[in-house]
Amino acid sequence: MPSAEKSKVTRKQLIDGLNEDLSREYQAIISYVNYSQVLKGAAYMNIADELAVHAKEELAHALKIANHVDYLGGMPSVTPKHVKTSEKAEDMLEFDLENEKETIRQYRRRVKQADELNEFAIAESLRDILVDEQDHLIALATALGIDPPDAGIAD
Ligand SMILES: [Fe+2]
Ligand SMILES: [Fe+2]
Repeated sequence: MPSAEKSKVTRKQLIDGLNEDLSREYQAIISYVNYSQVLKGAAYMNIADELAVHAKEELAHALKIANHVDYLGGMPSVTPKHVKTSEKAEDMLEFDLENEKETIRQYRRRVKQADELNEFAIAESLRDILVDEQDHLIALATALGIDPPDAGIAD
């Protein structure tokens, strides 16, 4: 029964998934712009600088994802996911850590979906983005003094 269980993912599902990813990238840009400037305290100055670097990387990701959505015939999203705010440094780092975990879970699934649709160049681009997101996760976990959590993979 080999060909009966072929690709279940549709192009439309990939477009919709990538648009959700794009909304997460917008969320990441906004949170990193805000947190990098709001984060206070001598203990957090290194990570504040690091967050400003993340902000620029998230913008580069957003541009790539928007390009892929357009290439697939979709309309790139213009809506960020909700951004939480706090005055507390640890809260901000934890919000970012949670968001990066979710981002990694989702991109891992998206790589498989793109591969399934033979969109190998998109899958390759997503793998590059995943490397950055894993670096972001490590930087946040290190700043929080914890081991980087395993993000797993989205359904
Ligand atoms: Fe990103
Ligand atoms: Fe990230």
